[in-house]
Amino acid sequence: MSNDTNPNLSKPAEEETIWVGTDDDNALLRKIVGARFGERPIDRLDDILDEKAKTANWIAQELDVQPSDTVLDIGAGAGLVAARMAQLCESVVCVDISANQKAFALRTALRGVDNAKYFVMQYGDFSEISKYNIRSAYSTAVFIHFNIYDIYYYLKRIADLIPEGGRFLFTFLDSNRLDPNQFDFSRHFERFEQSLNSRYLLTPHCSKFICKLAENSGFRIVSTSEAGEANTAITLERRA
Ligand SMILES: C[S@@+](CC[C@H](N)C(=O)[O-])C[C@H]1O[C@@H](n2cnc3c(N)ncnc32)[C@H](O)[C@@H]1O
Repeated sequence: MSNDTNPNLSKPAEEETIWVGTDDDNALLRKIVGARFGERPIDRLDDILDEKAKTANWIAQELDVQPSDTVLDIGAGAGLVAARMAQLCESVVCVDISANQKAFALRTALRGVDNAKYFVMQYGDFSEISKYNIRSAYSTAVFIHFNIYDIYYYLKRIADLIPEGGRFLFTFLDSNRLDPNQFDFSRHFERFEQSLNSRYLLTPHCSKFICKLAENSGFRIVSTSEAGEANTAITLERRA
């Protein structure tokens, strides 16, 4: 379903989110990797790419990616995972709501990566990429910002895209793995107090309930695993 076809939708435009508004490479990269690589993460882009390449290798295994596959990266950001994924499959299709992140990816990680395409999408609208023969998809560090209805909405849209047997892996913030004293809860609560709006703050969820939503959306659960920083990764397979 395209947003254009539903007049009742008032989904967040990109400009209402934290993802927009800068061409500064360091600021864009900090939105992806946080504070772990310092104030000037661009100086450590090679280290960041190495780390993200490991993530891509693991995802490719979970998704059983084959060299002939087209793989979708949802919320691709700076294209850091996609850069490695492109070496493991026929082509990678990246989508993201942020035009800034797309521009950044194309001038850094995805520069010269001929088998990667990148589209700016509206919230939940995959219509532009439905023509690609997508076998499997993944989304890392994106559902961590979603409320439960966003998650269900995206799972349903992704189920429409993926053929029977195709897989989808995503990570989310797992409330059962969280220690509120370690979790950056107070920083996010400060933001909440300023805006009284919880959209795009880190939002923990219950793994069991998300699995039920995934099953309701047409998937079977292949695996759940710990994915660091209180994240859980769920790998799904599209049922008939
Ligand atoms: C923390 S970054 C993660 C980037 C990348 N997946 C990675 O692991 O390096 C989150 C990304 O999700 C994108 N995003 C946020 N909400 C989205 C949505 N509703 N649909 C698609 N992309 C979204 C943001 O623009 C941002 O680039």
